[in-house]
Amino acid sequence: MPAPVYSYPAPVNPAAGAVDGHAIDGAQLFSQKFTSATGLGPSFNADACIVCHPGGRGASADEAHFARRVAHLDPASGRVLAMAGGDSMVAPRRTTAGDAPLPPPREANVVSLRMPLALAAATRIDDIDDAIIEAQAVAKDDGIHGRVHRVVGSDGRSRVGRYGWKADVPTLDAMVAAAFSDEMGLSSALAPRPRPPFVDDGRMARAVASFLRAGTAATPPQAAAAGAGQERGQ
Ligand code: HEC
Repeated sequence: MPAPVYSYPAPVNPAAGAVDGHAIDGAQLFSQKFTSATGLGPSFNADACIVCHPGGRGASADEAHFARRVAHLDPASGRVLAMAGGDSMVAPRRTTAGDAPLPPPREANVVSLRMPLALAAATRIDDIDDAIIEAQAVAKDDGIHGRVHRVVGSDGRSRVGRYGWKADVPTLDAMVAAAFSDEMGLSSALAPRPRPPFVDDGRMARAVASFLRAGTAATPPQAAAAGAGQERGQ
């Protein structure tokens, strides 16, 4: 891997579209290996998007890449609750200090292993109108129907959630920001539960989302090498 181009958490507020004079390149960020000097951690699951989504579009069936979603099931109500104080439902396994693998938080009595998904369709889900999704949430003969989950995004607008656990993330930009923050410990102002100080003021997440939207037309620089032998679901 080449040395990181960006000096995060250096100021992320120079002229729009550029950081330290470099254009923000979503493809490059997708394959960039982050370190604690560039905003990784202190706890995280992997140091680059491309580790878990090989080739820039792929899923990974390697268990080392599975995310652990955790929650607390309240025995009285039977409801699954986000854990008190937690700003994320992903329990990271590793630390930048190189400690032993982190166990799930003690109060978690629900642990769900999630496989990294292929991202080819993820961008298109963002484009579907709320009304079309809502129109599908009706019983189809058998009385069973889905329920949309309306979420208020960082822009204050309510939208049907599309990503994450229980569709708790409303837009692709927010999902990418959630991935930076939940999987890599790299805080982003666009994440669903933003926690300052931010390494990303939102432009990194937007740049990576536009790279994903560009589809197969865009290929991350190290895709071939990093994804070799692990391509899935393409
Ligand atoms: C440690 C592995 C890991 C890393 C690193 C990772 N992801 Fe993921 N990603 C996942 C898992 C697991 C899911 C599925 C989440 C679920 O089902 O709860 C996912 C889901 C997604 C989705 C939603 C797909 C859908 O259809 O709902 C997007 C978009 C995404 N990741 C983008 C990224 C980006 C961009 C990065 C880098 C900033 C990244 N991921 C880093 C494991 C990872």
